[in-house]
Amino acid sequence: MVRTSEDYDPLLRRPFSIYRNYSTSYPMKDKRGHLTILYKKVGKGTQKMITFQKRQKVNLIGPLGNGFFIPPLPSPSPIILIGGGVGIASLSSLGKIFRHEQIYVFIGGKTKNDILCEHDFPKRNVFIATEDGSQGHRGTVVELFCSRLRRFDRNLPHHIYVCGPEGMIKRLSRMNFPQKWTVHVSLEARMGCGFGACWGCVVKTKDPQMAYHRVCKDGPVFSLREILWE
Ligand SMILES: Cc1cc2nc3c(=O)[nH]c(=O)nc-3n(C[C@H](O)[C@H](O)[C@H](O)COP(=O)(O)OP(=O)(O)OC[C@H]3O[C@@H](n4cnc5c(N)ncnc54)[C@H](O)[C@@H]3O)c2cc1C
Ligand code: FES
Repeated sequence: MVRTSEDYDPLLRRPFSIYRNYSTSYPMKDKRGHLTILYKKVGKGTQKMITFQKRQKVNLIGPLGNGFFIPPLPSPSPIILIGGGVGIASLSSLGKIFRHEQIYVFIGGKTKNDILCEHDFPKRNVFIATEDGSQGHRGTVVELFCSRLRRFDRNLPHHIYVCGPEGMIKRLSRMNFPQKWTVHVSLEARMGCGFGACWGCVVKTKDPQMAYHRVCKDGPVFSLREILWE
């Protein structure tokens, strides 16, 4: 969660995924202990962020919430990543984790200018969709993914990792995935505190004990099957 302005306008921190992080023993000295956020300017907070200067200290808290579940490796089946718009930033680190696996990456955006991170993955495994047809398949990334579904064995336990706009995730939730497949989605929600106190970021789930889960603390990663769309 990043404080985008020192004058507290906007007051609330804004949530972002960590695109890259570099340990304190990273070989390149100038990167040690740094992290990178890949973000899109959409409103007041991100407008302020683009005015950040080189070497300016930025106030942030994190990491917060859970991360993606990583199955035992090597995986018996291909790993599938589906990213819409800037959502692909949160999946990029999975490219490294799954570098020895067979991986298929579907990236979508409205136009070619919205296609990010395609070079973070092996080229032959990246499939691109743009709604205006300016790059790759013309249409949505979900349509593109559906057109390739036959490649994947319904009887093997696939893991699919998803991050993108709500509309994209809702479309995926209407698909009839085989029971053995697990779809892990990283949700985006408007956030207040970022650490579980305000309940401003909840999502309704099928959990009989407690229907509402906090995206900031219980998530942002959920199993798609857990979510109840209202
Ligand atoms: C867990 C998580 C990870 C995220 N990772 C990234 C990332 O890596 N890169 C990135 O660019 N963005 C990411 N986001 C989204 C980012 O938090 C918002 O774009 C940012 O908070 C917008 O702040 P703002 O002040 O610029 O816009 P605001 O002025 O707050 O809003 C501008 C417009 O964007 C809409 N909006 C703002 N936030 C959201 C949201 N979360 N969901 C839907 N609509 C929204 C508003 O309704 C409004 O129309 C992430 C969000 C979450 C919850
Ligand atoms: S943002 Fe406050 S509980 Fe999630």
